[in-house]
This record gives sequence, structure tokens and C-alpha cells, in this order.
Amino acid sequence: MKRKLLAAFLCAAMVVTMGAAGCGGSSNEASTDDTAAEESAAEDTTDAAEEESGDDAAAEESDGGVITVGFSQVGAESDWRTANSESMKNTFSEENGYKFIFDDAQQKQENQITAIRNFVQQDVDYILLAPVTETGWDTVLQEAKDAGIPVIIVDRMVDVSDDSLYTAWVGTNPLLEGRKAGEWLKAYAEAHNIEELNIADIQGTIGSTAQIGRTQGLEEAAEKYGWNIVVQQTGEFTQAKGQEVMESILKQYDNINVVYCENDNEAFGAIDAIEASGKTVGPDGDMLVISFDSTNAGLTDVLSGKIICDVECNPLHGPRAEELIKKLEAGEEIEKENYVDGEIFAHGTDVESVTIEGTEYPVTEVTEDVIAERAY
Ligand code: AHR
Repeated sequence: MKRKLLAAFLCAAMVVTMGAAGCGGSSNEASTDDTAAEESAAEDTTDAAEEESGDDAAAEESDGGVITVGFSQVGAESDWRTANSESMKNTFSEENGYKFIFDDAQQKQENQITAIRNFVQQDVDYILLAPVTETGWDTVLQEAKDAGIPVIIVDRMVDVSDDSLYTAWVGTNPLLEGRKAGEWLKAYAEAHNIEELNIADIQGTIGSTAQIGRTQGLEEAAEKYGWNIVVQQTGEFTQAKGQEVMESILKQYDNINVVYCENDNEAFGAIDAIEASGKTVGPDGDMLVISFDSTNAGLTDVLSGKIICDVECNPLHGPRAEELIKKLEAGEEIEKENYVDGEIFAHGTDVESVTIEGTEYPVTEVTEDVIAERAY
């Protein structure tokens, strides 16, 4: 609690000096576009912080300087998600000086909202949120802001009317990931004289940043290059749903030659369904499977060619979120948006690089050595 008051004070000071609106505030703070009110709120906060400083020291002593972090996690839908949860748990450990409250929302936004309200009630120092979808967060984030608790968004983004409702975001760029996959497919199709592409898009959780970006990347490429997106259906980022959706697609369409899965677990399920139907995947098979995440199991399928291209989405956000918290604790400025880049992994060397908006991205051929380096 005392640490949270200090953080709120530091954040308020940063908002005034930086002219940014990135930190949680207290209920007596005015809107960020009212400078006079902001200054007076900052003064109030300063006074409060000064008054509290003696108590802060006592509280810090009593809790040993432990920082309490509440993390609302989407769920456990994929290998990527498991690696992400592990990264957060390992980082915000007791031995690193944290009390970590982990909540698995089982892919339900209402569970995440409840978790955030519980964190507010528990008066945590920081809230970390990996949001299941982008919209629907304004009210609960306002509650956290009113309680003076900084919120750091992890992985997917939130779409809120007021960006000051969260302090910072860290994650990857799914639109760029989708564009990388699209350009890779274009170059691969050219190299193999594949003239007609009939694509099944097994989408992620509808409304999540990862789905929105990856779907858009594919749609842009399809429009640009005249490909046919035959069907789009959500596989909810899970293996079971990926398999179920692919089974149903195979019953309805007989012309699919590319399956664009928006994560590795969907790809595993889709491959099972395709093989069970008697069809084959791979460079010499009936269908090419494209995927995202580049987990160890995903890259293993790239080596065999079952997945032909896998665009990386890095899940190891624990240390990145901690770095932001440490800077806030030290009263340092932090970036509002913190992008993490990823590689493109492929079977074979047909495509050496792709260029997107003037930037060239190399393609890494998957080998046993590449897989050995992938811990998750
Ligand atoms: O938001 C990141 C996505 O969510 C990953 O691609 C996927 O595996 C996870 O479930």
C-alpha cells in the first residue's frame, strides 16, 4: 500500500513533467487535459506523499520492501501462454522481492474484470493485465486508476477511450507478424510456381490483438496478390478447436491448399485433422500450413515441413514487465508502448528474406540447432 502511494506520487509527478498521461492517478485527480487542475492534483499528491513518507518507511520496513503484483492472465489455451505464465512467475518470485498474485481467467473477460477488482481491493502495488480481447476495459481500468494503482498491459493491447487508463504496454506486433507471413507466402508461391492460393484462415480469439493483426496481415496480402480466402473461422488459439474447425472445413471445401493458423496449437490440431482425413501437409503435400508463435513444438514441425513457415511471437515478457516496474519505482520515465520483435522461421531456404514497408526481415531456416535453443 505504501509503495503504491509512492508510485502514484512518482507517476503523477512524471505526468506533470512529461506532459504524458501514463500512470494511475487518485480519485481527486482531474482530467489530464486540464493543466491547472493537474498541477493542483499533483500538489495534492505531493502533499499526501510527503505526509505519508514517514509511514511509507515504516510500511516498507514491515513488508521488507516487497512489491505486490497482481497478474490477470488470459488463460492456459496454448503452449505460448504457458511459457508466458512461467516467465511472469519466475520473474515476480518471492526471492526477487515480490508478492505475486496470479489469476487465470480461463479465456473469459468477466473473470479478468473480477480479478482486477480483487487486486484493487487487495491494494496491490501494480496490476499486470494480459487482456483476452481489446475492448471492454474502460470501467475497470478507471477503477484501478482511481485507486492509484499503475496498470501495465502485457501481450495483447487494450482499446480504451483514454490512454491514461494504463501506464504502459509491452508485447509483440501481430499485424507485422501477419504481414511477414503474407510476404513469405507470396515469395514461396512464386518460387514454387503455385498460381492459385485457396486459403483457410483458422483465426485466434476474435477481438484479440493477436487475431486482429494476423487476420489483417493475411487479408492485406490476399487482396494485393489476388489470393482466395475460402473460409475464416476461429480456433480460439487452442489445439482442440483448431482440429475441430479443420475437420469441418475439410468436409465443406476440397480446394484448400494453404491453412493459415493464427498460432501453433491451432496448427497442431489442424495438421491432425488433415492427416486423419487422408490428406498430407508439407512442401510436397496437399496443403501448406503457416503458423505463429515458434514454440519448440512448432519449430519441430517446421523442421519436418508439416508447418512450412512459423512467425515468431515471443512470450517471455516477465523480465520486460519487471524492467518497467523497476523504472517506475525509481521514478524514471518509461515508454508507453514497448514493442518486442520476432523472427521468421521456415522449412528450407526458398525464401531468404521479406521486405515490409522498406524494412528487410531475414528468414531463418529451422535446423536441430535452432530447435535446441528454443526452451518453450
Ligand atoms: O496473444 C498471443 C497469442 O495468444 C499467441 O500467439 C497464442 O499462442 C496465445 O494464445
